[in-house]
Amino acid sequence: MSATTSSDYLEHNRAHWDAMVDAHWESDFYDVPGWLAGNDSLGEIELSMLPQDLKGQRLLHLQCHFGQDTLSLARRGAVVTGVDLSSRAVARADELAGLAKLDGQFVHSDVYGLPQRHDAAAAYDVAFTSWGTIGWLPDLERWAEVVDHFLAPGGVFVIADFHPMVWMLSDDRKSFAYSYFNRGPIVEERAESYSGNTKKKTTEVGWNHGFGEVLGALLGRGFNLEAFEEYDYGHHDCFSDTVEVGPNRYALKGLEGVLPMSYALRARKPA
Ligand SMILES: C[S@@+](CC[C@H](N)C(=O)[O-])C[C@H]1O[C@@H](n2cnc3c(N)ncnc32)[C@H](O)[C@@H]1O
Repeated sequence: MSATTSSDYLEHNRAHWDAMVDAHWESDFYDVPGWLAGNDSLGEIELSMLPQDLKGQRLLHLQCHFGQDTLSLARRGAVVTGVDLSSRAVARADELAGLAKLDGQFVHSDVYGLPQRHDAAAAYDVAFTSWGTIGWLPDLERWAEVVDHFLAPGGVFVIADFHPMVWMLSDDRKSFAYSYFNRGPIVEERAESYSGNTKKKTTEVGWNHGFGEVLGALLGRGFNLEAFEEYDYGHHDCFSDTVEVGPNRYALKGLEGVLPMSYALRARKPA
């Protein structure tokens, strides 16, 4: 399969995420009933990078899945727009907003196609993406161009995600199976989800991105890096072999305190 061509990878990933959404909606991992009752889906890592006061802030959430984090930001007063490739995700996000009685706009779009589908150039104070997002995109320069397009001058971009080193490891954690660097698409077939659910087997197409790519793409747009942190834990217990090393802090078993599990950064578009 020539997964590098745009239509190939988008079709595979769209089908993959459409299949994931309903399984996730029902999962203990996402705990929709608990969230509706008031649980927060945001963790300390992303919250430490986001502006403290989000009231009235126009916020664009890229790759929002079914909108739980987007709407957690709406609960903090942000005026939110979520974007996702999966039409099932966007439909569920609308449903979640209705159930929670929160305002949120959800746009069905590929990240790269968003400027053509959402007429809001320079309209956002904050752009945000987190936990399992850029690995679905082949080209971070195009990604940073989209972030730049939508942020107002002086606006901030925040990403929190798993560390690129995590994506290098083999499933049994005994070797490095994948390059740190972007060496082209990684194509896999799986029936399992990180939520612990299974679904029909789908093909997923992803890319590894080292920090040179992430930072280079943002700095290349003229953004100023304000904060950058690496952590030896992540908030989400979404690997089969984790240990809890603190409240809501998970590390890979045997690599606690050794392997960087996640990172977060904040970059600002010049005013
Ligand atoms: C792991 S989820 C994001 C996690 C999210 N923070 C959560 O847990 O709710 C990745 C999301 O990226 C979306 N996605 C993948 N490729 C995309 C693309 N090219 N454009 C927009 N969204 C994309 C998927 O549909 C999926 O909902």
